[in-house]
Amino acid sequence: MRLNSPQINLITKACMKASKSLIRDFGEIENLQVSTKGPGDFVTSADKRTEKILIDELQKAHPEYGIVSEEIGIINKSNYNNRWIIDPIDGTMNFLNGIPQFAISVGYEENGEILCGVIFNPIMNEMFSAEKGNGAYLNNSRIRVSNKRKIQDALLVTGGPKGGSKIRDKIFSEYVNISNYVSNVRKFGSAALDMAYVACGRFDGYWQRELNYWDIAAGIIILKEAGGFIDFFEEDKNLPLKKNVLATNSNIHEKMRELINKKNIE
Ligand code: IPD
Ligand code: CA
Ligand code: CA
Repeated sequence: MRLNSPQINLITKACMKASKSLIRDFGEIENLQVSTKGPGDFVTSADKRTEKILIDELQKAHPEYGIVSEEIGIINKSNYNNRWIIDPIDGTMNFLNGIPQFAISVGYEENGEILCGVIFNPIMNEMFSAEKGNGAYLNNSRIRVSNKRKIQDALLVTGGPKGGSKIRDKIFSEYVNISNYVSNVRKFGSAALDMAYVACGRFDGYWQRELNYWDIAAGIIILKEAGGFIDFFEEDKNLPLKKNVLATNSNIHEKMRELINKKNIE
């Protein structure tokens, strides 16, 4: 691996450490405590344990850094200059059902810009990582987005709507609009891995509404460094932790944006 900023080294180390207990927990799902945060939104003792290991490791090196982490919330709120953005398990629903499509996701942000990140699926032993200016990697191999140009040939991925979504109909009709134009659309259940899979060319594009920043923070830099393009459409500046995402190989970006903006089918 040629990535070598102190931050990426720290994140990688923290992810490796946290993954050990996560793999153990995945082998004993029936023993985990599960609670609900909202309709269809579960949190397990594994999410909390993984989060604690990550935070302890990162804080050992930089107790002063800000942290935005899904389960615990915000730490060192006044430090906007240096922040870790953490999703301890992205794809908890898959995890809970014994489906090995989930990942630890950690991004590092300076003054509002994500500079490096890691998305690690410990079951498949796939670690996606990137740092600004140094390319993106899957384990030790450099990755790039696909070079597909025709939207008709594209394989896309999406997610949602969430259980409590107030825009279910809009999300479904967008799905119909887009599906009518492309080769196929998948729903894999981990936004972080969805982004990573666009970065390494497995998918040509990804879009989803109602995400949280921690779902995609690490994915932003991994996708950009792999040559992809990302934008946050219909952004609400008052809700900086909420995101609608369109992330593609860049060739099909304009066409996908057109399809999203197209009047939805009633
Ligand atoms: C979820 C996953 C899923 C996406 C949801 C997210 P979680 O994250 O990324 O793919 O559709 O919107 O909340 O809850 O498993 O960390
Ligand atoms: Ca998530
Ligand atoms: Ca999560």
